[in-house]
Amino acid sequence: MARVLIIIGSRREGNSKILANKIKEGLRKERISVDMITPGNQKIYLCTGCMDCDETGVCDFQDDMVENIQKVENSDYLIFITPTRWNLLSGDLKIFMDRLNPLYASRGLTGKKMIALIIGSKKKSEYSTDGALTSLGSFAESSGMQLTYTHQFHRCLAFEDILEQEEEINQTIQEIIKVIES
Ligand SMILES: Cc1cc2nc3c(=O)[nH]c(=O)nc-3n(C[C@H](O)[C@H](O)[C@H](O)COP(=O)(O)O)c2cc1C
Repeated sequence: MARVLIIIGSRREGNSKILANKIKEGLRKERISVDMITPGNQKIYLCTGCMDCDETGVCDFQDDMVENIQKVENSDYLIFITPTRWNLLSGDLKIFMDRLNPLYASRGLTGKKMIALIIGSKKKSEYSTDGALTSLGSFAESSGMQLTYTHQFHRCLAFEDILEQEEEINQTIQEIIKVIES
């Protein structure tokens, strides 16, 4: 049975968190095991680029990434949900990705499956969410993960705007289930 970790790129109780909770609920109905983390609300030091982990496979910092890395190791699917910020992914997610380098160095990300969900306030025709998707896709490729599904939600500015797209959310959940169970 697939084990899923949802990584939420926004600290607020907003669209990313709402979407994460709905996905969790949908997957659990299918008896798929789901855990969720919000790196922005945790204690995570910035990567200094010391490169020690390239040699040892371990980071010198003792913070919430120790448990996060265990959770990533124990997961088959990583679902990244990010708000768009200046046409890019959230800074919180970038910090989290940098701190996964010890796992990358020990080949711990190779073969994992990734799902990338992007949320933005602009219209689809403005292509503002594409940069975040490109960053996540290139992270997957560089780290040996397989990007198996992506979706971009538009016109979500205020905390709960995504709730106006119930049908799109439900369709996304069904497609994620299909991908995980295939
Ligand atoms: C600093 C900042 C920059 C943003 N830049 C963009 C942007 O470039 N394109 C866009 O579509 N939305 C942008 N937004 C809007 C957020 O992506 C949008 O409000 C999103 O729904 C927030 O997700 P959340 O509710 O999970 O925090 C930005 C928001 C902030 C705070």
